[in-house]
Amino acid sequence: MRDRLQFLRNGKLVRVTDFNPATTLLDHLRLAERKTGTKEGCNEGDCGACTVALGKIRDGRLSYEPVNACILLLGQVDGCDVITVDDLAEGGKLHAVQQAMVDLHGSQCGFCTPGFVMSLFTLHHSGEKAERGAVNDWLAGNLCRCTGYRPIAEAALKTTGRTPKDALAKRWKETEKALLAMQGDDLFAGTQESFFAAPGSVRALAALCAEHPDAVILSGATDVGLWITKQMRHLPKIIHTGRAAGFDAIGESSRQIVIGAGATYTQAFEKLAALGPDMGEVLRRLGSRHVRASGTVGGNIANGSPIGDTPPMLIALGASLELQHGSAKRTLPLEDFFIDYGKQDRKPGELVTKVIMPKPGSKQHFKAWKISKRFDQDISAVLFAALFTVEKGHIASARIACGGMAGTPKRAKRAEAAIAGARLDDPATWERARAAFEKDYTPMTDMRASSGYRMEIVRNLLTKALTEIAAETGAGGKAATRVLATGEAV
Ligand SMILES: Cc1cc2nc3c(=O)[nH]c(=O)nc-3n(C[C@H](O)[C@H](O)[C@H](O)COP(=O)(O)OP(=O)(O)OC[C@H]3O[C@@H](n4cnc5c(N)ncnc54)[C@H](O)[C@@H]3O)c2cc1C
Ligand code: FES
Ligand code: FES
Repeated sequence: MRDRLQFLRNGKLVRVTDFNPATTLLDHLRLAERKTGTKEGCNEGDCGACTVALGKIRDGRLSYEPVNACILLLGQVDGCDVITVDDLAEGGKLHAVQQAMVDLHGSQCGFCTPGFVMSLFTLHHSGEKAERGAVNDWLAGNLCRCTGYRPIAEAALKTTGRTPKDALAKRWKETEKALLAMQGDDLFAGTQESFFAAPGSVRALAALCAEHPDAVILSGATDVGLWITKQMRHLPKIIHTGRAAGFDAIGESSRQIVIGAGATYTQAFEKLAALGPDMGEVLRRLGSRHVRASGTVGGNIANGSPIGDTPPMLIALGASLELQHGSAKRTLPLEDFFIDYGKQDRKPGELVTKVIMPKPGSKQHFKAWKISKRFDQDISAVLFAALFTVEKGHIASARIACGGMAGTPKRAKRAEAAIAGARLDDPATWERARAAFEKDYTPMTDMRASSGYRMEIVRNLLTKALTEIAAETGAGGKAATRVLATGEAV
């Protein structure tokens, strides 16, 4: 059992003992290291001013991701390489991404600039092609209030898709080897009353959570980080899932996909997006690249939020959930996990371990939409998801689940019953289901949307889904239901 943190800082080994378990990486960098290039803006994962590059071993190989240091806990970087804006220039010469920002006038007041530079740096090392869409996606978690995004995007395009020739590229193999050697052991730093622990195996993780049911289980910290920075909560005992080997494993058979609860959105993206283009589009708009690099599917379920994006989609697909308390495992339908607002079927110290999703069959159509005020990096007002089974031009059955319509992610069982038997070529037969949503949901009015808007949008999304399926199956004419980025309606 190791009792101190160890990680690389810009390729050099650092060890930390005697730290508050709830210390953020940003506070460590600015207050302990006195490296103040990394800025604090919102302190809640929204603005990207605190972006740093985190090198991790993923599938046995080194890769760097942009993360928000303000909500990442220091303990989470155990076994990783941390590179900040203070580390980029070499011998007084700016890094290529910094020089591109200067040459293309990407900075005015400069407050956002260190964060943009670090996002550009991770993009430079990502192997992505120099395409505007990829650049926009990568930068969606960085806000600039004065320069405007065009010159910054141009700096990104200039430095993306090229072979990096910087100090990191030169020490890549050496760093990968060092990080590989740091994986697998159990970390327990602190005392029985106050600690940051990160067991190296799922067995040890489950045992420690059962032994300390009052500890906070921590995955990506994209929720828990805000408990610290915004709610000022005192978290003396933290058990991190991120070092447990295999906790992020993703498996697939001909019939189902299994996502380990510790898989981040970035890790799970490809497999989940393969279930349907709408799933991919919702995930692409979930948080930002930074949030998706840290946030996990398991955390999105375990937090029990009524406006989490993945639960309605997973419920519509008929997913089940595996939980583990000590050595005891159990499985339940995902929808049964959400009992009431703030209440889930999980006992203290019990881990969410896996999400198991059946793959849609050949007669099934999956549709999902996220409705939010802002397109990127915004929380849903409503998340509509549905899986329709179509037979001979009519809906044989449906599973419809929504977020933002009740105190939990919830199925619309009355609307499901009312749409069964409806004809795809006769929209009049959809009306009963549209009306039935009134019996399924009593949505609230808040700053994201009014209850009337929420009800109307769910009805209209049902119509949109059926209109599209009618066109896809040849039961109805082609109606324009989506607008491409080019402005073209399709
Ligand atoms: C800027 C920003 C934007 C965001 N945008 C979105 C968005 O668009 N859509 C959306 O749905 N969410 C969004 N979120 C919320 C958040 O990213 C997600 O809920 C995320 O999936 C949480 O996962 P995590 O791994 O970070 O969880 P953590 O913060 O680590 O944990 C969240 C909760 O789950 C518990 N927990 C975590 N893992 C487990 C486990 N394996 N077993 C048992 N309990 C566990 C924790 O104790 C805690 O209660 C956003 C957050 C931020 C900061
Ligand atoms: S300070 Fe705004 S994302 Fe961290
Ligand atoms: S340069 Fe001022 S906020 Fe971006």
